[in-house]
Amino acid sequence: MNFHIMTLFPEMVLEGLRTSIIGRAEDRGCISIEAVNIRDYTLDKHKKVDDYTYGGGAGMLMQAQPVYDCWQALEEKIVQRKGTKSRSRVIYVTPQGEVFHQKKAAELSQEEDLIFLCGHYEGIDERVLEEIVTDYISIGDYVLTGGELPAMVLIDAVSRLVPGVLNNGESAQTESHANGLLEYPQYSRPEIWHEKKVPDVLLSGHHANIEKWRTEQSLARTKERRPELYEAYIKSCQFLQK
Ligand code: ADE
Repeated sequence: MNFHIMTLFPEMVLEGLRTSIIGRAEDRGCISIEAVNIRDYTLDKHKKVDDYTYGGGAGMLMQAQPVYDCWQALEEKIVQRKGTKSRSRVIYVTPQGEVFHQKKAAELSQEEDLIFLCGHYEGIDERVLEEIVTDYISIGDYVLTGGELPAMVLIDAVSRLVPGVLNNGESAQTESHANGLLEYPQYSRPEIWHEKKVPDVLLSGHHANIEKWRTEQSLARTKERRPELYEAYIKSCQFLQK
């Protein structure tokens, strides 16, 4: 999987992503991460990439030209490498998008190349968005100062699902949201800590009982913390039983 990030702050995304699990996955060649500076594509002699909004209003808007030329250069490079004309998906991270969830991460992890467009200031000229963006994605109903953190969130969530990125293939299947439920509680050594004992069943070695306990815990935890997810899960079970 190849991630391409169009941003005004390439060092921010690269420093954030080239550490820990995602950084090691890149070193091993499971994924590649490239950040391109939109400012490098401006035709303005002062390297300006933003301007006032028509109709008035607070703040500046990123202009269409540098964004479009940056995308075109990227897309051409990808097409040449792949040898096919099919356009890569371009994700604009914006609070106006569909809210991101695990299923979307799984869907995106099937792509060979993903281009992320990070906005800044008050956003980006609508005309270039209409021409290049295929997906509008938000990471939640709140507003951040730019798209870099949301792009990093998406890249992290998608990368973990790419084969070879996680050492233990099982962990992506059992964790929270993989089956529509939150994950059960987990414990490590010591057996007693702050007078709290690890539940007996987990020390029993009885795999069927452990599985049953974990499923019950997952259900109870989801019902308490995320009632809407719990309702959806119960409904889908009822649907499958019909
Ligand atoms: N840019 C600013 N806020 C955002 C959000 N909540 N999700 C995605 N992109 C954003």
